[in-house]
Amino acid sequence: TPPDLIRNFCIIAHIDHGKSTLADRMLQLTGVVDARAMRAQYLDRMDIERERGITIKSQAVRMPWAGRDAAGTETTYALNMIDTPGHVDFTYEVSRSLAACEGAVLLVDAAQGIEAQTLANLYLAMENDLTIIPVLNKIDLPAAQPEKYADELARLIGGDPEDCLRVSGKTGEGVEALLDTIVEKLPAPTGDPAAPARAMIFDSVYDTYRGVVTYVRVIDGNLNPRERILMMSTKATHELLEIGVISPEPVPSKGLGVGEVGYLITGVKDVRQSRVGDTVTNASRPASAALGGYRDPKPMVFSGLYPIDGSDYPVLRDALDKLKLNDAALVYEPETSAALGFGFRCGFLGLLHLEIVRERLEREFNLDLISTQPNVVYDVTLDDGSQVHVTNPSEFPDGKIAEVREPVVRATILAPSEFIGAIMELCQSRRGTLRGMDYLSEDRVEMRYTLPLAEIVFDFFDQLKSRTRGYASLDYEPDGDQAADLVKVDILLQGEQVDAFSAIVHKDKAYSYGVMMAGKLKDLIPRQQFEVPIQAAIGARIIARENIRAIRKDVLAKCYGGDISRKRKLLEKQKEGKKRMKMVGRVEVPQEAFIAALSSE
Ligand code: GTP
Repeated sequence: TPPDLIRNFCIIAHIDHGKSTLADRMLQLTGVVDARAMRAQYLDRMDIERERGITIKSQAVRMPWAGRDAAGTETTYALNMIDTPGHVDFTYEVSRSLAACEGAVLLVDAAQGIEAQTLANLYLAMENDLTIIPVLNKIDLPAAQPEKYADELARLIGGDPEDCLRVSGKTGEGVEALLDTIVEKLPAPTGDPAAPARAMIFDSVYDTYRGVVTYVRVIDGNLNPRERILMMSTKATHELLEIGVISPEPVPSKGLGVGEVGYLITGVKDVRQSRVGDTVTNASRPASAALGGYRDPKPMVFSGLYPIDGSDYPVLRDALDKLKLNDAALVYEPETSAALGFGFRCGFLGLLHLEIVRERLEREFNLDLISTQPNVVYDVTLDDGSQVHVTNPSEFPDGKIAEVREPVVRATILAPSEFIGAIMELCQSRRGTLRGMDYLSEDRVEMRYTLPLAEIVFDFFDQLKSRTRGYASLDYEPDGDQAADLVKVDILLQGEQVDAFSAIVHKDKAYSYGVMMAGKLKDLIPRQQFEVPIQAAIGARIIARENIRAIRKDVLAKCYGGDISRKRKLLEKQKEGKKRMKMVGRVEVPQEAFIAALSSE
C-alpha cells in the first residue's frame, strides 16, 4: 500500500473508558471480523486479559476503509490500529506503540470525564508529536454528559468543543464518522522508500509454534521475505522466515514498505532477541542510525516466589524460563529461604505485573505458589563507603549504615475538588510531598505529589479510591530516589529469625509493623510442646513480643480402648501433617501459617 493511503493510529484512554470495545466495533464495521466470529474484546487474546477485561499486550490490526483521496476519487485506505494497554505498569508499552503512529484517538468516557491516565497518555502522545482526535465515548449511557466533558477536553487540548466526536462503542453510534475523521485528519506516514530499512519494534510475543512474533512499524525502506535482517541494538542477524500483516489473523505478505505495520517471524525463541523499542534494518545494507532509543524495562517491585510443594522447584524454574520468553520485563534468580525452601526472587514492573505472572504460573503450569511480601529496591551506603543494592530485605546490611535511598515516583491524582482534604491527608500519611495543584474545571483538580514508591505500590490506590468514593484516579512514573529513614524489622520465633517475614519499613512505622506481624503469627502458629516467644526486632533491639503458650499434646490419649487401626490412622494423619510443616529452629510452623501471614491483611 502506498504511504498516502495508510493511516496509523492508536486509541488511548484511561482504564475502562472503552478502548477495547471501540476497537471491537471498528473491526466489525470495517468487515475485518464478521459478526459470527465476533467476540467481546477480540484483541485481548490472553485468558487473563479476557477475564480481567484488561489489555496487557499491545496489538496491531490492519483494517480497510473506503474513503476519497485528495482528488475526490473513491479509494480504499489501510488503517492500522494499535490497541494499547492502559495500566500504569505497562506505560512503557504504550509509549512504544505511540511512537509507531501518526495519530491518536483520545477516548474519554462521557460519564466520567478526564482521568489521570487520560492525561498521562495524552502527554505521551504529544511528546511523540501525534495528531490527537478527541472522542467522547459511551454516549448511550443515561449518565453521559458529553457537553460538559467536551468543554473539559477542548480546554485541555485546545480547539472547539464541537470538534469532539461523540461515539458509543457499545451501540456503534458515531464509529463510522470516527473512521472517516481518522482518514481525513491524520497525516499519512512519510519516509524514504529508497533508504536502507528502518522498522521499529513495538511489541514482540512468544508463540509456542512459531517462536517469537515481532510487531514492527516500517519508517524507511522495505523489509522482504527471506532476506536477512539486523537488530540494531544487539547486532544479531536473522533470516526473515515470514513477514505479513494482521487482519485480524496473521496474513503473510510480499514485504512491508514505508508506513506499514505488520509482523516478522525469524525463528528466534526468546523475546529478548527481539526487543521492544529496537530498530530492524536490512543486514545487507544496514541503516546508519537507529530510530529513537529503546529502554530496558526496569523491575520496580520484587517478591520471592516459592512452590508450596518443594518438589515443584524444577517445574517453577522451567515455567519462569518459558514466561520470560514472552516477557522481557520479568527478571528472576534463585534464592533460598530458611522458612520457605528453594524459590526465586523475581522482579516486576508493578504489583499488577506480579499478580499476572503469579496467576499465569499457577494456571498455565499447574503450580501452587507462596509469594513473599513484595518490596521495592533500596540502595544502602555503609559507613565505610561500600554500597549494597538490596532487592530482598534479608540482604539488608546489619553494619553501620550511612544512608538508605529508596525509589520515588511523581504521582498525578485527579479528583473532584471536595476530596482535596482527604487526598492530602492520605498522601501525608504516606510521606508524600505536594508539588503542585491545578483546577481542570471549577470542581475538578489535578494534584501532583512526590511519593516513595514503597508507599504507593501496595494499597495506596485502594485507599485513594475508598477515601474519594471511587472518584479519584491515579497515575505515576518513576522519578529517581531519595534518602529516607528506613530500618529492617526482623521477626524471630524462639530467637530464630524467619527470613520470609523481614521487611524494610520507615522508622516511624517499624513499631506498628512489628506488633502487627507478631500478633498475626501468634494466632496462626499452633501451640507447641514448649513455650514459643515471637519477637519483632530492629537489629538487636526488640520492639514487640508475643508468646505462644506450651501444650502437652498426646493425641493417642484420645483413643481409649485398644482400637489399633484407629490409632494407626491417627499416626498416619499426623505424619502427613508433618510433611506440610516447616521447621524454624525447634518450632513447627504449618505452611498455611506462612501463607496466611504473607497474604496482605
Ligand atoms: P482496558 O483494556 O482495561 O484499558 O479497558 P478498556 O478501556 O479497553 O475498556 P473496555 O472496552 O474493556 O470497556 C470497559 C467497560 O465499559 C466494559 O464493561 C464495557 O462493556 C463498557 N463500555 C465500553 N464502551 C461502552 C459504551 O459505549 N457504552 C456503554 N454503556 N458501555 C461501554
